[in-house]
Amino acid sequence: MLRNGDGQRQCDGHPPLKHQVNINSFVREAAKSLQMNEVGVCNISTQTPIAFDAYTDNRATGNFIIVDRVTNATVGAGLIDFPLRRADNVHWHALEVNKVARSAMKNQLPAVLWFTGLSGSGKSTIANELDRILHAQGKHTYLLDGDNVRHGLNRDLGFTEEDRVENIRRVAEVAKLMADAGLIVLVSFISPFRDERRMARELMEEGEFIEIFVDTPIEECARRDPKGLYEKALAGKIANFTGVSSPYETPENPELHIRTVGHEPTDLALAVEEFLDRRMEGK
Ligand code: ADX
Repeated sequence: MLRNGDGQRQCDGHPPLKHQVNINSFVREAAKSLQMNEVGVCNISTQTPIAFDAYTDNRATGNFIIVDRVTNATVGAGLIDFPLRRADNVHWHALEVNKVARSAMKNQLPAVLWFTGLSGSGKSTIANELDRILHAQGKHTYLLDGDNVRHGLNRDLGFTEEDRVENIRRVAEVAKLMADAGLIVLVSFISPFRDERRMARELMEEGEFIEIFVDTPIEECARRDPKGLYEKALAGKIANFTGVSSPYETPENPELHIRTVGHEPTDLALAVEEFLDRRMEGK
Protein backbone atom coordinates (compact mmCIF):
# COMPACT_ATOMS: atom_id res chain seq x y z
CA MET A 1 0.00 0.00 0.00
CA LEU A 2 1.25 3.44 -0.88
CA ARG A 3 0.81 6.32 1.51
CA ASN A 4 0.42 9.69 -0.12
CA GLY A 5 -1.02 11.77 2.70
CA ASP A 6 0.99 13.16 5.53
CA GLY A 7 -1.16 11.62 8.27
CA GLN A 8 -0.34 8.58 10.31
CA ARG A 9 -3.83 7.05 10.41
CA GLN A 10 -4.01 3.35 9.64
CA CYS A 11 -6.77 1.12 8.36
CA ASP A 12 -9.54 0.16 10.77
CA GLY A 13 -7.74 1.38 13.85
CA HIS A 14 -5.62 -1.74 14.16
CA PRO A 15 -1.91 -1.42 13.42
CA PRO A 16 -1.91 -3.69 10.37
CA LEU A 17 1.43 -2.83 8.81
CA LYS A 18 3.46 -6.00 8.31
CA HIS A 19 6.48 -4.32 6.82
CA GLN A 20 7.58 -1.44 4.69
CA VAL A 21 9.09 -2.03 1.25
CA ASN A 22 12.17 0.01 0.46
CA ILE A 23 11.29 1.57 -2.90
CA ASN A 24 14.90 1.62 -4.08
CA SER A 25 16.09 -1.84 -3.03
CA PHE A 26 12.69 -3.61 -2.61
CA VAL A 27 14.02 -4.89 0.71
CA ARG A 28 11.46 -5.44 3.49
CA GLU A 29 12.01 -3.15 6.43
CA ALA A 30 10.32 -3.03 9.82
CA ALA A 31 7.99 -0.04 10.20
CA LYS A 32 4.93 0.91 12.23
CA SER A 33 3.52 3.52 9.87
CA LEU A 34 4.09 4.92 6.41
CA GLN A 35 5.10 8.44 5.53
CA MET A 36 4.22 10.21 2.27
CA ASN A 37 5.02 8.08 -0.82
CA GLU A 38 6.20 5.12 1.20
CA VAL A 39 5.04 1.61 0.35
CA GLY A 40 4.20 -1.25 2.69
CA VAL A 41 2.23 -4.46 3.13
CA CYS A 42 -0.73 -4.66 5.48
CA ASN A 43 -3.99 -6.49 6.22
CA ILE A 44 -7.16 -4.54 5.62
CA SER A 45 -10.60 -5.26 7.00
CA THR A 46 -13.69 -3.41 5.82
CA GLN A 47 -16.83 -2.71 7.77
CA THR A 48 -19.06 -4.15 5.03
CA PRO A 49 -18.22 -6.89 2.49
CA ILE A 50 -16.81 -5.74 -0.85
CA ALA A 51 -16.18 -7.66 -4.08
CA PHE A 52 -12.57 -7.75 -5.30
CA ASP A 53 -9.95 -9.87 -7.05
CA ALA A 54 -6.26 -10.37 -6.60
CA TYR A 55 -4.37 -7.77 -8.64
CA THR A 56 -2.58 -10.55 -10.56
CA ASP A 57 -5.99 -11.94 -11.65
CA ASN A 58 -7.64 -8.67 -12.55
CA ARG A 59 -5.99 -5.29 -12.45
CA ALA A 60 -9.23 -3.33 -12.52
CA THR A 61 -10.83 -5.04 -9.52
CA GLY A 62 -7.58 -5.74 -7.72
CA ASN A 63 -6.54 -2.20 -6.91
CA PHE A 64 -8.00 0.48 -4.68
CA ILE A 65 -7.56 3.96 -3.35
CA ILE A 66 -8.33 5.17 0.14
CA VAL A 67 -10.26 8.42 0.35
CA ASP A 68 -10.57 10.50 3.50
CA ARG A 69 -14.34 10.81 3.90
CA VAL A 70 -14.06 14.23 5.50
CA THR A 71 -11.69 16.00 3.11
CA ASN A 72 -12.31 13.75 0.07
CA ALA A 73 -8.54 13.70 -0.45
CA THR A 74 -6.96 10.49 -1.70
CA VAL A 75 -4.67 9.45 1.11
CA GLY A 76 -3.40 6.12 -0.19
CA ALA A 77 -3.52 3.54 -2.95
CA GLY A 78 -2.94 -0.18 -3.01
CA LEU A 79 -2.92 -3.51 -4.78
CA ILE A 80 -4.67 -6.57 -3.36
CA ASP A 81 -2.56 -9.72 -3.03
CA PHE A 82 -5.14 -12.18 -1.76
CA PRO A 83 -8.18 -12.45 0.52
CA LEU A 84 -7.52 -13.68 4.04
CA ARG A 85 -9.12 -17.08 4.55
CA ARG A 86 -9.66 -16.13 8.16
CA ALA A 87 -12.32 -13.64 7.09
CA ASP A 88 -13.92 -16.17 4.71
CA ASN A 89 -14.31 -18.77 7.40
CA VAL A 90 -15.86 -16.63 10.08
CA HIS A 91 -19.65 -16.63 9.88
CA TRP A 92 -22.26 -14.72 11.82
CA HIS A 93 -24.42 -16.93 14.03
CA ALA A 94 -28.04 -15.89 14.42
CA LEU A 95 -28.76 -16.36 18.11
CA GLU A 96 -32.10 -17.58 19.45
CA VAL A 97 -32.25 -15.22 22.41
CA ASN A 98 -31.90 -11.83 20.79
CA LYS A 99 -31.49 -8.23 21.86
CA VAL A 100 -35.25 -7.53 21.92
CA ALA A 101 -35.83 -10.47 24.26
CA ARG A 102 -32.94 -9.51 26.50
CA SER A 103 -33.91 -5.86 26.87
CA ALA A 104 -37.64 -6.65 27.22
CA MET A 105 -36.80 -8.88 30.18
CA LYS A 106 -34.97 -5.92 31.72
CA ASN A 107 -37.84 -3.59 30.88
CA GLN A 108 -35.55 -1.02 29.29
CA LEU A 109 -34.26 0.24 25.97
CA PRO A 110 -30.59 -0.55 25.42
CA ALA A 111 -28.47 2.55 24.98
CA VAL A 112 -24.86 3.58 24.71
CA LEU A 113 -24.30 6.82 26.61
CA TRP A 114 -21.01 8.04 25.22
CA PHE A 115 -19.37 10.65 27.46
CA THR A 116 -16.60 12.52 25.66
CA GLY A 117 -14.49 15.42 26.90
CA LEU A 118 -11.08 16.43 28.15
CA SER A 119 -9.30 14.64 30.96
CA GLY A 120 -10.59 16.16 34.19
CA SER A 121 -13.74 17.51 32.51
CA GLY A 122 -15.97 15.47 34.81
CA LYS A 123 -16.99 12.62 32.47
CA SER A 124 -16.36 9.82 34.93
CA THR A 125 -17.82 11.70 37.90
CA ILE A 126 -21.09 12.38 36.03
CA ALA A 127 -21.18 8.88 34.50
CA ASN A 128 -20.64 7.35 37.96
CA GLU A 129 -23.41 9.46 39.43
CA LEU A 130 -25.79 8.58 36.61
CA ASP A 131 -24.89 4.90 36.98
CA ARG A 132 -25.75 5.10 40.68
CA ILE A 133 -29.11 6.78 39.93
CA LEU A 134 -30.07 4.29 37.20
CA HIS A 135 -29.01 1.33 39.31
CA ALA A 136 -31.13 2.58 42.20
CA GLN A 137 -34.10 2.67 39.76
CA GLY A 138 -33.57 -1.00 38.97
CA LYS A 139 -32.01 -0.37 35.57
CA HIS A 140 -29.38 -2.78 34.23
CA THR A 141 -26.27 -0.78 33.44
CA TYR A 142 -22.54 -1.05 32.99
CA LEU A 143 -19.93 1.69 33.11
CA LEU A 144 -16.88 1.42 30.86
CA ASP A 145 -14.28 3.90 32.05
CA GLY A 146 -11.14 4.79 30.07
CA ASP A 147 -8.79 4.61 33.02
CA ASN A 148 -10.18 1.23 34.11
CA VAL A 149 -10.37 -0.40 30.68
CA ARG A 150 -6.77 0.67 30.14
CA HIS A 151 -5.83 -1.52 33.11
CA GLY A 152 -7.16 -4.66 31.39
CA LEU A 153 -8.45 -5.09 27.85
CA ASN A 154 -6.53 -2.05 26.59
CA ARG A 155 -3.47 -2.19 28.79
CA ASP A 156 -1.29 -2.71 25.71
CA LEU A 157 -2.29 0.71 24.36
CA GLY A 158 -0.72 4.11 24.95
CA PHE A 159 -1.72 7.59 23.82
CA THR A 160 -0.41 7.90 20.28
CA GLU A 161 -3.05 8.64 17.68
CA GLU A 162 -3.01 5.01 16.49
CA ASP A 163 -3.38 3.65 20.01
CA ARG A 164 -6.26 5.98 20.83
CA VAL A 165 -8.05 4.94 17.63
CA GLU A 166 -7.65 1.28 18.63
CA ASN A 167 -8.68 2.09 22.21
CA ILE A 168 -11.97 3.52 20.95
CA ARG A 169 -12.52 0.78 18.36
CA ARG A 170 -12.27 -1.89 21.04
CA VAL A 171 -14.43 -0.12 23.59
CA ALA A 172 -17.07 0.63 20.94
CA GLU A 173 -17.22 -3.07 20.05
CA VAL A 174 -17.53 -3.99 23.73
CA ALA A 175 -20.28 -1.39 24.21
CA LYS A 176 -22.11 -2.84 21.20
CA LEU A 177 -22.01 -6.32 22.74
CA MET A 178 -23.29 -4.95 26.03
CA ALA A 179 -26.12 -3.08 24.30
CA ASP A 180 -26.90 -6.35 22.51
CA ALA A 181 -27.19 -7.93 25.95
CA GLY A 182 -29.90 -5.31 26.66
CA LEU A 183 -27.82 -3.10 28.92
CA ILE A 184 -27.63 0.67 29.26
CA VAL A 185 -23.92 1.19 28.73
CA LEU A 186 -22.12 4.27 30.01
CA VAL A 187 -18.85 4.89 28.20
CA SER A 188 -16.49 7.45 29.67
CA PHE A 189 -13.49 7.95 27.41
CA ILE A 190 -11.81 11.15 26.23
CA SER A 191 -12.36 9.81 22.67
CA PRO A 192 -10.80 12.94 21.17
CA PHE A 193 -11.36 12.20 17.45
CA ARG A 194 -14.63 12.83 15.61
CA ASP A 195 -13.97 9.98 13.17
CA GLU A 196 -13.76 7.40 15.94
CA ARG A 197 -16.85 8.71 17.70
CA ARG A 198 -18.70 8.49 14.38
CA MET A 199 -17.37 4.97 13.90
CA ALA A 200 -18.74 4.06 17.34
CA ARG A 201 -22.10 5.66 16.48
CA GLU A 202 -22.32 3.75 13.21
CA LEU A 203 -21.73 0.45 15.01
CA MET A 204 -24.89 0.91 17.09
CA GLU A 205 -28.53 0.77 16.06
CA GLU A 206 -30.29 3.96 14.98
CA GLY A 207 -30.98 6.15 18.01
CA GLU A 208 -29.03 3.94 20.39
CA PHE A 209 -25.85 6.00 20.53
CA ILE A 210 -26.17 9.07 22.70
CA GLU A 211 -23.17 11.35 22.50
CA ILE A 212 -22.75 13.48 25.60
CA PHE A 213 -20.21 16.27 25.34
CA VAL A 214 -18.89 17.04 28.81
CA ASP A 215 -17.76 20.57 28.12
CA THR A 216 -15.28 22.03 30.57
CA PRO A 217 -12.75 24.67 29.44
CA ILE A 218 -9.22 23.36 29.53
CA GLU A 219 -8.20 26.08 32.01
CA GLU A 220 -10.78 24.71 34.42
CA CYS A 221 -9.66 21.08 33.84
CA ALA A 222 -6.07 22.18 34.51
CA ARG A 223 -7.18 24.01 37.65
CA ARG A 224 -9.07 20.95 38.94
CA ASP A 225 -6.26 18.64 37.85
CA PRO A 226 -7.62 15.70 39.91
CA LYS A 227 -4.77 13.38 38.95
CA GLY A 228 -1.99 15.97 38.77
CA LEU A 229 -1.61 15.19 35.05
CA TYR A 230 -2.00 18.74 33.66
CA GLU A 231 0.84 19.95 35.86
CA LYS A 232 3.07 17.25 34.45
CA ALA A 233 1.83 17.67 30.86
CA LEU A 234 2.32 21.45 30.94
CA ALA A 235 5.84 20.87 32.24
CA GLY A 236 6.43 18.68 29.16
CA LYS A 237 6.61 15.48 31.18
CA ILE A 238 3.69 13.65 29.47
CA ALA A 239 3.76 13.18 25.71
CA ASN A 240 0.57 13.45 23.61
CA PHE A 241 -1.53 14.87 26.41
CA THR A 242 -5.03 15.77 25.19
CA GLY A 243 -5.58 19.50 24.98
CA VAL A 244 -1.90 20.21 25.58
CA SER A 245 0.15 18.27 23.03
CA SER A 246 -2.58 16.21 21.34
CA PRO A 247 -5.83 17.53 19.83
CA TYR A 248 -9.39 17.26 21.14
CA GLU A 249 -12.00 17.59 18.39
CA THR A 250 -15.18 18.98 19.97
CA PRO A 251 -18.44 17.21 19.03
CA GLU A 252 -20.41 19.02 16.32
CA ASN A 253 -23.83 17.49 16.95
CA PRO A 254 -23.94 15.74 20.29
CA GLU A 255 -27.31 14.57 21.60
CA LEU A 256 -26.45 16.33 24.85
CA HIS A 257 -24.08 19.22 25.50
CA ILE A 258 -23.30 19.54 29.19
CA ARG A 259 -21.45 22.56 30.51
CA THR A 260 -20.06 21.64 33.90
CA VAL A 261 -18.79 24.93 35.31
CA GLY A 262 -21.04 26.10 38.13
CA HIS A 263 -23.10 22.88 38.24
CA GLU A 264 -23.14 19.91 40.56
CA PRO A 265 -22.40 16.47 39.04
CA THR A 266 -25.69 15.10 40.44
CA ASP A 267 -27.74 17.77 38.63
CA LEU A 268 -25.90 17.06 35.40
CA ALA A 269 -26.46 13.32 35.82
CA LEU A 270 -30.17 14.00 36.40
CA ALA A 271 -30.31 16.00 33.15
CA VAL A 272 -29.02 12.93 31.28
CA GLU A 273 -31.50 10.76 33.13
CA GLU A 274 -34.37 13.02 32.02
CA PHE A 275 -33.18 12.68 28.44
CA LEU A 276 -33.28 8.89 28.83
CA ASP A 277 -36.79 9.02 30.30
CA ARG A 278 -38.06 11.07 27.36
CA ARG A 279 -36.42 8.62 24.99
CA MET A 280 -38.08 5.66 26.73
CA GLU A 281 -41.44 7.42 26.36
CA GLY A 282 -40.66 8.01 22.68
CA LYS A 283 -40.70 11.82 22.92
S1 ADX B 1 -8.57 8.25 24.94
O1 ADX B 1 -8.08 9.54 24.42
O2 ADX B 1 -7.87 7.12 24.36
O3 ADX B 1 -10.06 8.15 24.82
P1 ADX B 1 -8.88 7.42 27.68
O4 ADX B 1 -10.20 7.99 28.08
O5 ADX B 1 -8.82 5.97 27.33
O6 ADX B 1 -8.25 8.32 26.51
O7 ADX B 1 -7.82 7.64 28.87
C1 ADX B 1 -7.67 8.91 29.38
C2 ADX B 1 -7.07 8.87 30.79
O8 ADX B 1 -5.73 8.39 30.75
C3 ADX B 1 -7.01 10.26 31.35
O9 ADX B 1 -8.14 10.55 32.14
C4 ADX B 1 -5.75 10.27 32.18
O10 ADX B 1 -6.05 9.82 33.49
C5 ADX B 1 -4.89 9.21 31.55
N1 ADX B 1 -3.79 9.69 30.66
C6 ADX B 1 -2.50 9.30 30.75
N2 ADX B 1 -1.76 9.83 29.75
C7 ADX B 1 -2.60 10.60 29.01
C8 ADX B 1 -2.44 11.42 27.84
N3 ADX B 1 -1.26 11.54 27.24
N4 ADX B 1 -3.52 12.08 27.35
C9 ADX B 1 -4.71 11.95 27.96
N5 ADX B 1 -4.94 11.20 29.05
C10 ADX B 1 -3.89 10.52 29.59
